Amino acid sequence: MCGIVAYVGHRQAYPLLIKGLKRLEYRGYDSAGVALLNADGLKVFKKKGKVAELENELKAREPLATIGMGHTRWATHGEPNDKNAHPHYSSNSKLAIIHNGIIENFATIKKNLQKKGYEFRSDTDSEVLIQFIEDIQKETGATLEETVRLALHEVVGAYAIVIMTEDDPTQLIAARKGSPLVIGIGEEEFFFASDATPIIEYTKEVVYLDDLQIAVVRNGELTLQNLDKTTQIPYIQKVEMELEAIEKGGYEHFMLKEIFEQPRSIADSMRGRLNAEDALLELGGLRGYMDKLADAKRIVIVGCGTSWHAGLVAEYIFEELARIPVEVEYASEFRYRNPIIKEKDIVIAISQSGETADTLAALELAKSKGATILGVCNVVGSSIARITHAGAYTHAGPEIGVASTKAFTAQVTVLTLMAIAVAKKRKTISEDLYRQLLIEIDTIPAKVERVLKASEKIKEIAYIFTYARNFIYLGRGLNFPVALEGALKLKEISYIHAEGYPAAEMKHGPIALIDEDMPVVVVATKDSSYDKVVSNIQEVKARKGRVIAVVTEGEKQLHELVDFVIEIPKTHEILVPLLSSIPLQLLAYYIAVMRGRNVDQPRNLAKSVTVE
Ligand code: M6R
Repeated sequence: MCGIVAYVGHRQAYPLLIKGLKRLEYRGYDSAGVALLNADGLKVFKKKGKVAELENELKAREPLATIGMGHTRWATHGEPNDKNAHPHYSSNSKLAIIHNGIIENFATIKKNLQKKGYEFRSDTDSEVLIQFIEDIQKETGATLEETVRLALHEVVGAYAIVIMTEDDPTQLIAARKGSPLVIGIGEEEFFFASDATPIIEYTKEVVYLDDLQIAVVRNGELTLQNLDKTTQIPYIQKVEMELEAIEKGGYEHFMLKEIFEQPRSIADSMRGRLNAEDALLELGGLRGYMDKLADAKRIVIVGCGTSWHAGLVAEYIFEELARIPVEVEYASEFRYRNPIIKEKDIVIAISQSGETADTLAALELAKSKGATILGVCNVVGSSIARITHAGAYTHAGPEIGVASTKAFTAQVTVLTLMAIAVAKKRKTISEDLYRQLLIEIDTIPAKVERVLKASEKIKEIAYIFTYARNFIYLGRGLNFPVALEGALKLKEISYIHAEGYPAAEMKHGPIALIDEDMPVVVVATKDSSYDKVVSNIQEVKARKGRVIAVVTEGEKQLHELVDFVIEIPKTHEILVPLLSSIPLQLLAYYIAVMRGRNVDQPRNLAKSVTVE
């Protein structure tokens, strides 16, 4: 969690850091701070709250400096307040650190330092690290770079850090293990950041730091070494991202922009992979692994949150089309339960950020047990993308709203393409069905466009239910994960309690909750479970529940039965989630806005969960 950004060069660092922190705020937003070094020394400014509050505080005295670093925090150790905000000084205030991650053995290190007389100004693990570095420096007299290396050898946990010293206004030292860090290389200037968004308007040339690497910029030069001191040649890559992709482009919120981007993001996730007319489908990133996939005895999908829901959709599709058994696991559970991994098992990780700590750890475990590990990630160059044997990017473009929307539909699209390709290879679907699916999936972006036209109607429904205290979401088959995802969207941005269930499960308990105050969202599209879902709706109506139904265009029966109807175009059953999830995103969005919530940065959350 947390966003970090640093700069050294010829520009004024402060405005650049503030702008960068705003772009990284999706990673955490409970406090923010900057450290700047000029003739007056190394100065730290920090404040509880969002970056704008820090900016406000510093308005009258914009600090001048051409070297500095900033941090936006998602609290792990110590409550969100001014003193726990980063950067943190060392005892003599000559060093400062920003840190994303968790130092697991901080308590032991802290105790030893306390015995030596060190005092702490915060409750954070990060301050312990910088004090530890100062202590080693005092004890050994080594260079700062060497001291950092010695300290990191002792550290257990995850980190992306940047360190500044008052003694050298040209120097920034950065290191990573488990938390992302990108270095931007400009003309006589260098940038460090948790992702490329603060960097791209200055340079497109970046180096992704690897785990256990230390990067040092000094006197305008970058050197890269492993923790064991072997020198690395920086591998410079070009970032493809454009500035407009990370701006709101006239929308009130990133989440709304991202919902409305879905016709394009779904098309982008298929671009270069699908040629429906000629019945061609190839996922380049999986080239060389298609035989293994087709030969798999079992596929295990791991992910968290929305990505886990995408995995559940994929389970239905893979089993239906490719007839390979699929298990979908919460990465956080998988990693700790000594899972049985057999030869010919394939483990697929789904992750928008590619940095989710639990998903990463689950993959590492599967890899250590000899599994072939594949990734479906959105962020290019992310940790998951780099540790997997192969994978397919979702190409949805940067997703900035904390609530995942376009990343979900892009994940489902890519996983569907994978399932179709594997089914074709295994000959578990007919040539006819194969062609039909390719033609149909190609029409999805246009159909999503039609679903989005219902946004005004969905807004009206949202208005009616703005102050509901609970919601139930129901669906069957492929629409069951859609119901889970709809409920997750509502709770995370509106803070309304919402539960998703397989519609048939309702009668085994949740039905006791149904009364006139319980809105029930039912995904009731015209598919193989339609009649059963209608019966479930009858059960809700018989208990006076108020039903909002997502139905297929042209459907008549439910118009009579339910309170509100949202129509989506007809499509092949396995593609329905790509359409049925969208009204639920809009419903959650409008309810949250009407309740005055901060939809892009809901409380207690952060976009990428890089801690356990
Ligand atoms: O980056 P990932 O896809 O690995 O993130 C997993 C979850 O943290 C994420 O999907 C989360 O549930 C979203 N905020 C939901 O909208």
